[in-house]
Amino acid sequence: MNEPSFRRFRAHLGDLEAQWSGTTAVPEAPKFSGPLAKMDSNENPYPPEIDMPEIAQGLVANRYPDSTMEDLRAKIADLNGVDPECVVVGNGCDEIIDLLIRMTLEPGEAILNCPPTFIMYQRFTEIFGGTVVAVPRDREYQIDVEGIRVACENNPGARLLFLCSPNNPTGTVTPPRLVEKLLDLPLWIIADETYYSFAGKTLAPLLAKSDRFGVVRSFSKGYGLAGLRVGYGLLPKDLARLIRLVRPPYSVNLLAQKAAEEVLDHLDRWEPRFASILSERERLRSALATVPALRVLPSEANFLFCESSRQFKEKLESVLQEEGISIRWLASPYSEAAFRVSVGTQEENGRFLRAVERAAS
Ligand SMILES: Cc1ncc(COP(=O)(O)O)c(C=O)c1O
Repeated sequence: MNEPSFRRFRAHLGDLEAQWSGTTAVPEAPKFSGPLAKMDSNENPYPPEIDMPEIAQGLVANRYPDSTMEDLRAKIADLNGVDPECVVVGNGCDEIIDLLIRMTLEPGEAILNCPPTFIMYQRFTEIFGGTVVAVPRDREYQIDVEGIRVACENNPGARLLFLCSPNNPTGTVTPPRLVEKLLDLPLWIIADETYYSFAGKTLAPLLAKSDRFGVVRSFSKGYGLAGLRVGYGLLPKDLARLIRLVRPPYSVNLLAQKAAEEVLDHLDRWEPRFASILSERERLRSALATVPALRVLPSEANFLFCESSRQFKEKLESVLQEEGISIRWLASPYSEAAFRVSVGTQEENGRFLRAVERAAS
């Protein structure tokens, strides 16, 4: 008797390992016995400016959290001057990005992507069974508006465009005047403003100009809640409703919800932190700009993007390994070896600059 065949996984997932080989979404920490300078994930190097033990103390852990997250959504709506019906909250901005893809694409349809950019737009699309149409950024790592228009015309299955601003990994902000030129396209356009608090520049006013435009943000970076996982979206009402309907009901835990509310109640506490991170970023940038082997880009976020060469990469990688410093090496259409380094503490930034000096000598 023939055994009925058993398909273990969705067919397209068989390719993922080969497709993704050599590119990690999460970096491996170097093996180092001293204190590691973790400058690879754009986290805030300082703990959040709220009293976590006090928040944790009052929580009722044996009950599920509020799945509607009404209180948190009301605060987010208030802060951004939008209707709470337009607000979704997720387990990090990642969960919202994943849901946006799953709610707007049919399998086989495409997102438009502007690399180099946040890798998870591509990853989530490929896991879902969608395709990715790349419209690379220009030499200054700004989006190519005309290229996006042409790609949209040539790919009738394209449904969604993510615009990361400031862009991870390049730190480039996309100005509203460029995005306005895209609002007539038959696409959802989502501005990913995960690094908004560092740039203080937003595309949110475009919410009033289009019913297919949205903004997503995170508490992970500026506000230092990466370990708790909270992000939010400001979306057209119908899309927000759908996402609230389908999301796993308790994906944002109680501690994360309460901590995010506390952050929103005390936003002013972060201003000195942002100021010091930005001044450290400029210290790093001006020092890196003096290294002939590097081209460092201007950045409006808490990280810097540098183009370098294969030879320099080899030297720097080995020094960083010895010194216990972790950064991200990335692909760029314009550089055989590029990296992104997050702004760390003053001490970490000093260590990184000394390592670069050693590699350059
Ligand atoms: C551009 C961008 N979007 C979204 C995320 C995910 O953020 P979260 O920690 O809120 O899931 C990241 C994290 O690195 C990011 O860089």
